[in-house]
This record gives sequence, C-alpha cells and structure tokens, in this order.
Amino acid sequence: MLMRLKQGLFHQANITMLKNDTSNAITTVRTVSDLRNILKIWRNNKLTVGLVPTMGALHDGHFSLIKRSLSLSDRTIVTLFVNPKQFGSNEDFDTYPTDELSDIKALENLSVDVIFAPSTEEMYPTGNITNISIPDIGDLLEGAFRPGFFDAVATVVCKLFMISSPDFAFFGEKDYQQLLIIEKMVQDLNIPTEIVGCPIIRSKDGLALSSRNVYLSEKDRLVAPLLYKILNEILDDAKNGEELKKTLNNAKMNLLNSGFTQIDYLKICDKKYLTELNNFSFDARILGAAWIGNTRLIDNIRVN
Ligand code: PAJ
Repeated sequence: MLMRLKQGLFHQANITMLKNDTSNAITTVRTVSDLRNILKIWRNNKLTVGLVPTMGALHDGHFSLIKRSLSLSDRTIVTLFVNPKQFGSNEDFDTYPTDELSDIKALENLSVDVIFAPSTEEMYPTGNITNISIPDIGDLLEGAFRPGFFDAVATVVCKLFMISSPDFAFFGEKDYQQLLIIEKMVQDLNIPTEIVGCPIIRSKDGLALSSRNVYLSEKDRLVAPLLYKILNEILDDAKNGEELKKTLNNAKMNLLNSGFTQIDYLKICDKKYLTELNNFSFDARILGAAWIGNTRLIDNIRVN
C-alpha cells in the first residue's frame, strides 16, 4: 500500500494518494505491483533509479550506500527484506535484528524516495521454485562455509532487479564476495544495471559496521576490531616479502590467542576471481571470517 506519494510527480500521474499523518512520512511499499506503479511514473518522467538492497537493521554502512545512490540517481529505492532463503538452518534467521520503525525514520531523514519492504509471501509466493546458481566464485570462501548462500543472495537480488529495473544498484565492499557475485550475475544475464561498489564503513577502532555486531558482548566487542588489525598486519608482512603461508598461520594464531574462538578462513586472494594466491600480488584482496563465541565476523581489505 502506498502510504505517501511524492508531491508533484504523483499528482501528475493521478495516482490515489493515501497520506500518513506525519508530514515527512516516506512512501513504504509492500507489493511488487505498487512499486511498479511508482516506477512507471518515474520512467515516464525520464528519471534514473538507484536501488539499495538491504536486510534492514540499518547503520552507517547502509547509509553510505544510500547517500551514494541519492547523489547518483534521481530517485532512490531502499529495500528492507530479511531474505529467509539465504539463512542456513543453523543460522540466525529467527533472531536477525529487525527494527522497521527506526529504519523507516532514518530513511525519512535521508529523504529516500521509496522503501520497498515486501512480505516473504510477496517475494516467494507458494509454488515459487526458480533459483539463480552461481558456481565457482560462489563456492569459495563464504560459499564454502555457507552452502547455498550466494545462490539465495543472487536469486533475491535478481528478483529485486527484475521488479525495479534500476539504473544503478549499490553494494558494500564489506561483503566483497557478494559484490563480485552480483557483478558476475549482471554481466552473465545481461542485466542493464550498473553495480556501484562502496567502501567499507568502520567504527573508530576499525571494526567494520555490521547489523550482527549487536550480538557481541561488551567483552567480545573489545576483541572484535582485532580482525581488521590482523588483516592489515598480513598486508604489511606480505609487502615486506614474508612467506604468505607463515604470515597467515601467525595471524590465525594471533586471533585465537586474543579471544577469537574459530577462524573459518584468512586468505590472500585474487581480487577479481577470489582464487587463493601463493605469492603476493597487488591484484589481491585479503579476506577473513572468524568467530567470537556465537558471533561470526567477516572483513576484508584491499591491497594497495
Ligand atoms: P545487508 O547485510 O543488510 O547489507 C546491505 C548492503 O549494505 C550490502 O551491500 C552490504 O555490503 C552493505 N554494508 C553492510 N555493512 C557495510 C559497511 N560496514 N560498509 C559498507 N557497506 C556495508 O547484504 C545483504 O544485506 C543481503 O545479502 C542483500 C544484498 C540485501 C540480499 O538479501
């Protein structure tokens, strides 16, 4: 349902307006057909559209993508949808942080044009069986630890692209492998959307912002920034000609000795294909995933 439609454009188009009480309330759309009605008007007015897919629980990392979209596109859609298909049966779907009211408020303050917050039934009506499959790059790193994860991400993002046909779509380097996979999908399926990668936003102490950081206890929160520190130490050692295998083993030991409880991977990879490198190269990306108790953190840094 349309809760508010932007003045002017929607007057022109004669769409029924259902206004909210609050004057700067944002247009929150729950159905594909309502979103398409808005998009039709934008397209008729030759406006470019930016899409920022999120699972909500918004923070400054998300806001940086949204600001980029606002600056590049005439209209910006932010999606709030916790995609059940991308959570494994042992993962945190049931407890994933959600606070739609506060997300909507923040998006109002940013003057986003439309929020698309569909139900699971709207995105996956009964009988929906089609999936996108992205092997190879999708099987590495995160894909090895979260089987089916990237297929589910690619499927939902592809659906969002088909629903909204955005000119631009914005993804964070925080999920570097996800960004590469979406770029690959867009290339392979000839999707006419430009993918814009955005830098990682961090806390002052270096921890990459993440919706899941709320899971960290006060004590674990102090340990967490070490992942970023270690990635940088690996880069320094690698640049200084240290043997990569030794450097990575030392880094893993350091993390485990400092409060991390398990390392899923810590690797220097080709920055485009994510294959592991045996020798240091400036075409590399350093990526890691590690646990502190029940919380899994991922991070990565560019090599320059
Ligand atoms: P979510 O984790 O909500 O992230 C939405 C977008 O915000 C992603 O592109 C992610 O890389 C970016 N992001 C998160 N933290 C960031 C940070 N600290 N700095 C910069 N960007 C950051 O990623 C997903 O949702 C989902 O997989 C999704 C693509 C929405 C599909 O369901």
